[in-house]
Amino acid sequence: MDPAPFPIARPRRLRRTAALRAAVRETALVPSQLVAPLFVKEGIADPQPVASIPGVAQHTLDSLRAEAKELRAAGVATLLLFGIPAAKDADGSEAWNPDGVVQRAVRALRDDHADDLVLVTDTCLDEYTDHGHCGPLRPDGTVDNDAANAAYARAAVSQAEAGADVVAPSGMMDGQVGVIRRALDDAGHAEDTAVMAYCTKYASAFYGPFRDAAECAPRFGDRSAYQMDPGNAGEGVREALADAAEGADILLVKPAVPYLDIVHRVKQATGLPLAAYHVSGEYAMVHAAAANGWIDHDRVMAETLLGIRRAGADLVITYAAGWMARRLG
Ligand code: PBG
Repeated sequence: MDPAPFPIARPRRLRRTAALRAAVRETALVPSQLVAPLFVKEGIADPQPVASIPGVAQHTLDSLRAEAKELRAAGVATLLLFGIPAAKDADGSEAWNPDGVVQRAVRALRDDHADDLVLVTDTCLDEYTDHGHCGPLRPDGTVDNDAANAAYARAAVSQAEAGADVVAPSGMMDGQVGVIRRALDDAGHAEDTAVMAYCTKYASAFYGPFRDAAECAPRFGDRSAYQMDPGNAGEGVREALADAAEGADILLVKPAVPYLDIVHRVKQATGLPLAAYHVSGEYAMVHAAAANGWIDHDRVMAETLLGIRRAGADLVITYAAGWMARRLG
């Protein structure tokens, strides 16, 4: 065979040893980029494990505080809090109770950690409504967009007053970020409370286990009239740009792995800090396959979370946050 006219590329030179590979690795995942979702439930005496999200529980206030300490010690400094109230009603009014379950959790964690933890609160109603939808219903059973926004604004202000650093509207109502931002500003929180906007959230079958944990499965119908259609990418970018224009500080794409193209496009289009939510169903699948001996949990989980970062996410929200942080050591 004739010699090549020029040296052939030899990328394998840099794959020869683990040290070389680490030296040229383009993407790093470090514990401070991980966000742990946590559930706190009112009126239970002991934490209740969630069978479909292995390793995750509905917490009491005390067990939440213990879990937060462990996470912080492992290097996870950002927590995303979901509250499950003892009583639900059609409006979801516990969401803005100043002594509601999430407000009390924020105060307790702030007491324990001062500013060493970033506390993010879910600002939605589905955990709080008796029908399980993300906003109040009209007589025909559809969600009233603007009434939902008004309720989110009240909830966001009460979460900010309790000490949340970031509020995270996840309901996919039109205009929710602008309405919340204005309410926070009017209540004196222009400078101390940021908004992490679920700008591009798909109507996904991957949320199943979460609905067990948050007790928020819709009693009828589904969320397709407010969450996005899984076939749409351009619309996902437009939603992100709209939320950026309304004052979002951090954007969020959800789910993560089936939508890594959206993660990439939203990051490119906005340049804003971006979170991707590796949701309950994605996490549960890794555990289920590993429990069958079909895949290696540790390697698959680590590769998955690194891939989410590589696609363009700055923050990775995952039920594996504590595990991953401890493994990264
Ligand atoms: C709703 C909400 C959902 C999740 C986070 N916030 C569920 C839904 O839209 O039905 C899902 C998260 C997960 O699956 O891990 N406010």
